[in-house]
Amino acid sequence: MNSAIRAAVRYGISEGMEVYGIECGYRGLINGYITRMDNRSVSGIIQKGGTILKTDRCPEFKEIEYQQKAVDVLAAYGIEGVIVIGGDGSFRGIQDMKTNFGYPFVGVPGTIDNDLAYTDFTLGFDTAVNTVLWAVNNLRDTMTSHERVCIVEVMGRKCGDIAIYGALAGGAEIMLVPEVQVDIAAISKKIIQNKIKGKKSDIIMLAEGVCDAEVLREELKKRTSISLRTVKLGHIQRGGTPTMADRVLGAKFAARAVDLLKQDKGGRVVGIKNNKIFDMEVGQALNTPRKLNKELYELVNKLSQ
Ligand code: F6P
Repeated sequence: MNSAIRAAVRYGISEGMEVYGIECGYRGLINGYITRMDNRSVSGIIQKGGTILKTDRCPEFKEIEYQQKAVDVLAAYGIEGVIVIGGDGSFRGIQDMKTNFGYPFVGVPGTIDNDLAYTDFTLGFDTAVNTVLWAVNNLRDTMTSHERVCIVEVMGRKCGDIAIYGALAGGAEIMLVPEVQVDIAAISKKIIQNKIKGKKSDIIMLAEGVCDAEVLREELKKRTSISLRTVKLGHIQRGGTPTMADRVLGAKFAARAVDLLKQDKGGRVVGIKNNKIFDMEVGQALNTPRKLNKELYELVNKLSQ
């Protein structure tokens, strides 16, 4: 996100705009946590995880009364357009600002979950998966030495993408995602067969949207005596030095978002499809149905033999 903030500030200024930073998302907007930013405000942030502008959840922003407050604050500052970085909740705010007030907000998809179907990738996803890989590499060493099975629980809410990409790139033997029904008997059978086949360790990549790692462990313990360990990666997936892919994506997304504001095209969100940056009406983006990436899912299973 810092790469996107840096790019929005510097690209905006280079296009002749005055740029302000709103801290703590919609909550900060309502409360007027707003400061003028210049090129130096974003020095030395590109390599930092998280966001220098901080973030917050703000369920009240669904209510028109709070949206009106936001419009009043923006008018007081003379702010003519807003770039929002976030997931589907943040995007609904963009839609409401357009429908209820005709106020130009534009969106940059930022969530580690990669759960916005209209875009191939969201900001932060690549860094999160690389953190998963770092953990899996370490776990593989110790699990192989002890000939154990490790359940690695990763984030993603109801989306299995962190687990799928983490499993493919990390060489996991088994992968469980919320989009596919779990078959405990088949999993325990696979673990036992893997032992017979000569595999020295198994990594089970478990998406948090399926179940808790401990629940899965208890279920498997009923069916096999193989030594099992669990690791919940949790919030370490949400921080750390961003990868090259995320930094580049952040800069490209933000530059397109600034262009949209310049062209007075509010109510649109940016995305990437087949390696090309594009933009789309926010309602259409939110209504794009999310599907399992079947091709990658099947590839993981074929490669885990
Ligand atoms: O949406 C991002 C995410 O990290 C999810 O993957 C996870 O389930 C959730 O947020 C964690 O939320 P919190 O930080 O509020 O516990």
